[in-house]
Amino acid sequence: MTLLAALRAWLEAEQLDGVIISSRQNKQPHFGFATSSGYVIVTRQHAHILVEFRYYSDVAARTKGYQLHLLDSGHSLSSVVNQLAQEEDLQRLGFEGDQVSWQTGNQWQTAMHPTLVSASLDSLRQIKSAEEIALIRVACGIADATADHIRRFIQPGMREREVAAELEWYMKQHGAEKPSFDTIVASGARGALPHGKASEKVIVAGELVTLDFGAQYQGYCSDMTRTFLVAGRYTNAEQSPLYGVYQTVLNAQLAAIAAIRPGVACHTVDNAARTLISDAGYGPHFGHNTGHAIGIDVHENPRFSPTDTTLLQPGMLLTVEPGIYLEGEGGVRIEDVVLVTESGAEVLYQTPKTLLMTGEA
Ligand code: GLY
Ligand code: MN
Ligand code: MN
Repeated sequence: MTLLAALRAWLEAEQLDGVIISSRQNKQPHFGFATSSGYVIVTRQHAHILVEFRYYSDVAARTKGYQLHLLDSGHSLSSVVNQLAQEEDLQRLGFEGDQVSWQTGNQWQTAMHPTLVSASLDSLRQIKSAEEIALIRVACGIADATADHIRRFIQPGMREREVAAELEWYMKQHGAEKPSFDTIVASGARGALPHGKASEKVIVAGELVTLDFGAQYQGYCSDMTRTFLVAGRYTNAEQSPLYGVYQTVLNAQLAAIAAIRPGVACHTVDNAARTLISDAGYGPHFGHNTGHAIGIDVHENPRFSPTDTTLLQPGMLLTVEPGIYLEGEGGVRIEDVVLVTESGAEVLYQTPKTLLMTGEA
C-alpha cells in the first residue's frame, strides 16, 4: 500500500476527514527530507504540503501528487486549513496531539473551523517498506564498517571523547549524514552507565569499553552497541574479570533474537533476555528494555519491554540490546538491529559478537 493509501485507510478507521501532520518524523516520508518547518494535510480526496519560502523549491522538486501552498505572513496554517475545510467539507480534522504543544493546540482550536481531534500516526511507521528497509541496511552497513575501524583504532591512553570524534568522522566519510544520537563511549567503571556519553576519561588497558552509536543515512537510523576488551593487559579475552558477565549478556541477546518471529508478543522477547540475566543473578543490574523499534527515529514503538503486548509482524525493525551494569566495576551491552521476516529474524549486522580485543589483530 502506498503511503497516502495507508493514511486514507487510517482516516477511515479513525473517522476523520483529514489530518494535519506537523511532526518532523511523520512529515519526512512526504517531504523527502527531515525538517521541523511546514505541514502536510492529507484529506480523503487530496494531499497538501504547506511550506515556507526556505524549503519551497526543494519540496516542489522532490514531491509529486501534492498541492503545494506557500506559507507566508498572509497565509498561515489556520487560514489554509479554513479554506480547505470549506472546499473539501472537512469537519473532523486529526492533529498530532502528542507532538504539538498545549499552547499551539489551543491556538489551532480557536483559529480553525473544523473540530480538531488528537490522534497518533506513529503506528503507520511500524512496518517498514522495502525502500525503507534498504536504507536502514545501508545505515547498518556504515555502522558495521565503523565498528571494525574503531576497534582497531582504540589504544590505551586515548580519551573516550577522541574515540567518539574518530568514530563520527569515519561514519560521515562513509555516507552518514550525521550520528543518529550522541555517541556513547563508556570505558572501565563508566561502563556501568547505560548511557555514558563519551567523556574526558582516559581508556586503560584491560578495561572493557562499550561503544553505542549509529549512522543516519537518508533520514533513516542504525543503532549498534559492541563492548570490546582494551588490549595491553590480557593475552586472551577469557582473562577479563568481566568475561562471565559478557557471556551472560551475549547469551541473553541470542536468546531474545531466537524468540523473534511473526505473531510473538514483544514482552515475550524481552522476557527471553531478562530471564537469562535474572537466572545468572544479575536481574537488578539490567534496568532497561531489551530493545525498541527503529526507523526515522532512533527510538520508535513497539518496545521489547516487560509490558508491550504488540505482536511482531514481518517488516518490523527493532533493536535487541540487553546489558548488565555493575557500579564501580563496569558494564556490558550488545546491540543489534533485527528485521522481523516471514519466518523469524534477520540480524542486519555482520560485526562479530564474541568479546574482541581492541587493536589491529
Ligand atoms: N543509545 C541509544 C540506544 O541504544 O537505544
Ligand atoms: Mn544503541
Ligand atoms: Mn538502541
